[in-house]
Amino acid sequence: MIWPTAELHIHIEGTVESPFLVAAARRNGIALPTYDPAELSARYVFADLQSFLDVHYSNLTVLRTERDFHDLALGYLERSAAGGVRRAEFFFDPQTHINNGVDLAVVFAGLTSAVQEARETVGISADILLSFLRDLGPDAAEETFRAALPFRDQFIGVALDSTEIGYPPSLFEKVYAMAAAEGLHRVAHAGEEGGPEYVWEALDLLGVERVDHGNRALEDPALVERLRAERIPLTVCPLSNVALRTAPPALKDHPLRRMLDEGLLVTISSDDPAYFGGYVDDNFAAIEREMGLTSVELATLAANSFVASFISDEQRAGYL
Ligand code: HPA
Ligand code: ZN
Repeated sequence: MIWPTAELHIHIEGTVESPFLVAAARRNGIALPTYDPAELSARYVFADLQSFLDVHYSNLTVLRTERDFHDLALGYLERSAAGGVRRAEFFFDPQTHINNGVDLAVVFAGLTSAVQEARETVGISADILLSFLRDLGPDAAEETFRAALPFRDQFIGVALDSTEIGYPPSLFEKVYAMAAAEGLHRVAHAGEEGGPEYVWEALDLLGVERVDHGNRALEDPALVERLRAERIPLTVCPLSNVALRTAPPALKDHPLRRMLDEGLLVTISSDDPAYFGGYVDDNFAAIEREMGLTSVELATLAANSFVASFISDEQRAGYL
């Protein structure tokens, strides 16, 4: 069954399917290791987060024009709407594109026009989260944030992604304070590869409203208690975790089971569906099949996603 859901942990750049990648590369005259989409996809076997990021960033040099960003986001919104997604809050990585020589105005124009078009054509509600690349450090994040301020009305919050270990949330306290002062929402990847202390820092120092992944929070009972007591959502990405080996190879052993048993506010997302074996409906199908979740548990996960989303209470009431 297709569950109506909100997708809250999705990198728009991670929706770049191989046929799209090849078409954009040809259009923009960018070299790829192969122009056979199947051959490209066959290379998507990863040892860890970094080995994925290396391929991911290398592929993203194909994105150059407003049309590229528009078509990428529209493709994702249409595909996910067909899979039950009614609301999407997607990340984009401005630094990747700026460093590839693309104007931020071009990126925003493409993404924002796709959000508007998809609302009209497939009825999906979507908003944009601006994500900082943690491995580029805090000064670059602050500079990026200042560069994005002229587009303040085109994104609803900030996020933190890329290489986790060695780049703790504490480095980004200042830029998150700047975002808070602008009235922006705040989320961060934490506890994907980094330990529970990364999750504590995201909560205490960055003031995040949701934790992206959060799997390793389970190692710290006091942290589990905090997440439960404050109803802090975790955006969990089961197929991603298996693909990047941040969870055991068999989904039946995924920490989602324990998160549910601990009474945490867990949601399901796809992360980078072009690389990890599917969209949010594919994640739901996989956890149903492999983990034997009951329909009550699956319905809870779907409902949690609307509870955790940054929509108005009025809009939320319409979904729940
Ligand atoms: N983790 C960190 N950074 C990322 C990810 C992820 O899963 N996907 C794209 N950038
Ligand atoms: Zn992610």
